[in-house]
Amino acid sequence: MPITGDTRLVGVIGDPVRHSLSPAIHNEALRRLELNWRSLAFEVAADEAAQAMQAVRVLGLRGLSVTMPHKAAVVPHLDRLAPSADALGVVNCVSNEDGELVGHNTDGDGFVAAIGALGVSLGDGAVRFAILGAGGAARSIVEALGRSAAADIAIINRTAERAESCAALAGVARVGGQADLEQADVIVNTTSVGMGTDRSLPMDGALLRSGQTVVDIIYEPAETMLLTAAKAAGATTMNGLPMLVHQAVVQLELWTGRECPAEPLLAAAQQALDKRSAGAG
Ligand code: ATR
Repeated sequence: MPITGDTRLVGVIGDPVRHSLSPAIHNEALRRLELNWRSLAFEVAADEAAQAMQAVRVLGLRGLSVTMPHKAAVVPHLDRLAPSADALGVVNCVSNEDGELVGHNTDGDGFVAAIGALGVSLGDGAVRFAILGAGGAARSIVEALGRSAAADIAIINRTAERAESCAALAGVARVGGQADLEQADVIVNTTSVGMGTDRSLPMDGALLRSGQTVVDIIYEPAETMLLTAAKAAGATTMNGLPMLVHQAVVQLELWTGRECPAEPLLAAAQQALDKRSAGAG
């Protein structure tokens, strides 16, 4: 669809942001929904969150994905927070509702949707989770799981106070330990251990077993050492790309009111990632 006077704009703000897969995901969705919209990446310096929100208002952007370092910084410049963003105190999405800027956090819902697509059904209230790490990503996941029918959420983190703070986000969440990793139906790595060229494991690989689902929210590399070990143990595995895509699907729905199927967006994200890796090589 050609750009015209009616074309609407969404995008992503962050710094760095040039590596972001969001424009590729958004634009594929907008094309499939046959909307005359575009998505762009905007590099916004750490101290310019306020100006960026002002730009959304003045230029009439329909919405923005928000990534580091702005997830907390934009909050004072919004008119209202949706419940998950309010609970977490950070947003990953701004929606411009006829001039009212609303902050959302769709990371956790993206995680729940991604494991749902993998076949993990939370409906029966029997699924036990073990979460490695207690940073921003873990907090979003725990908050969303707390709104689902998860049976138990054990949080295992290097720094105990952060695990406690994270556990406070969900009624069924608690600080956990090694034994919980063996018991868990779903193990989720939210730490940065295994990212990029780091070939280490965030947990004892001997505790992994078949029947478990192991999710690493890292997607570069596509298969971390944790996922390699989990596969070898017979577990079901998933990397972080489906979560990234599903949180974008939720954002696109907030902006456009339309639901876009995740599979073609996952393919677009994978293609953008492959292109980026080829460029880097
Ligand atoms: P994000 O926003 O991606 O979740 P973050 O908020 O920086 O990132 O959180 C990183 C998480 O990885 C934290 O739980 C951190 O543990 P601490 O709370 O103890 O700092 C965890 N992490 C990072 N490097 C780690 C390492 N080498 N071993 C264990 N945990 C690590």
